[in-house]
Amino acid sequence: KNDCFILAIESSCDDTSAAVLHNDKVLSNVVAGQAIHEQYGGVVPELASRAHQQHIVPVVAAALRQANIDKKQLNAIAFTSGPGLLGSLLVGTSFAKSLALGLNLPLIDVNHMQAHILAHFIDEEGYEKPSFPFLAMTISGGHTQIVRVDDYFEMTVIGETIDDAVGEAFDKSAKLLGLPYPGGPFIDKYAALGNPKAFPFTKPNVPKLNFSFSGLKTQIMYFVQRNTEAQSDFVNENLNDICASIQYTIINIILDKLKKAVKETGIKSIAIGGGVSANSGIRKAIKDGEAKWGWKTYIPKFEYTTDNAGMIGIVGYLKYQNLENKNSFVDQGVSAQS
Ligand code: KG4
Ligand code: ZN
Repeated sequence: KNDCFILAIESSCDDTSAAVLHNDKVLSNVVAGQAIHEQYGGVVPELASRAHQQHIVPVVAAALRQANIDKKQLNAIAFTSGPGLLGSLLVGTSFAKSLALGLNLPLIDVNHMQAHILAHFIDEEGYEKPSFPFLAMTISGGHTQIVRVDDYFEMTVIGETIDDAVGEAFDKSAKLLGLPYPGGPFIDKYAALGNPKAFPFTKPNVPKLNFSFSGLKTQIMYFVQRNTEAQSDFVNENLNDICASIQYTIINIILDKLKKAVKETGIKSIAIGGGVSANSGIRKAIKDGEAKWGWKTYIPKFEYTTDNAGMIGIVGYLKYQNLENKNSFVDQGVSAQS
């Protein structure tokens, strides 16, 4: 094993994040969110890039300070090369490349989706890491995927959304109910107090292991319109039941596909990640799979499920082990590919 300190940078969407890792341990993981998007009810790419520009220097400085590490002690710099919003990615990418050139350190490019999955390998007291093979489900405001993971870098996407991400389904439904952005946590909160079977919404019929959420959104839109015409305070009067019913439908859509994925692959280990894995109903439903269907489930610390640089750093660490030239930025030539 090659002992190393890695600085990791993530800027693919609306969070600017920097982390310092010593091998697979996270020493610091600083995240600056962007409240500016709340008033628009979604992430505005141009505003996101500008906020990254403001945050990147203080966030990296804070990560180094909190880890109590001088930049001269670093062995490599890892950064998110994609997928994500281009303007946002450019800020982290350019910063990482310049810093690597300046410090003459190897630069490691990281795929954001792989990072969400490999976040399960961050060394945390009391957290058991999954063993291969396992199924990873990444659910967030931007992603909805089921991935078969056979090894650290041997992954196959076996199902994904054909339209909206799960988080969007939560957020767009919440918006129709007049809740603030991002609405997922609000739906979760009110759902706990309501009857999940009060309003039956239909599940989409999507082939294979793929997902679709845009139909649910349209259904809810007409449902709200129709009922509000008949009774103007309908949403307020029934908020808990509506949220519970929406959440119940989303959980069922996810569980159906997971059960199908387990059946098709014969793999019963399931690791979830992404901001939506914070949802208490989804957590419970997946956990219940252990007793019901013999699943083994993995849910990392919340800090590592949402967008964060800690997960970029763990991929950096894993890739660092196989780097040919660990000494310099220039000898590596990685800048050409990313
Ligand atoms: O991973 P994340 O922070 O950012 C990306 O989208 O990549 O995920 C944010 C998403 C939002 O859609 C938010 O509404 C959703 O995660 N979310 C939740 C909950 N907490 C966050 N959705 C449902 N229930 C929650 N408790
Ligand atoms: Zn993400």
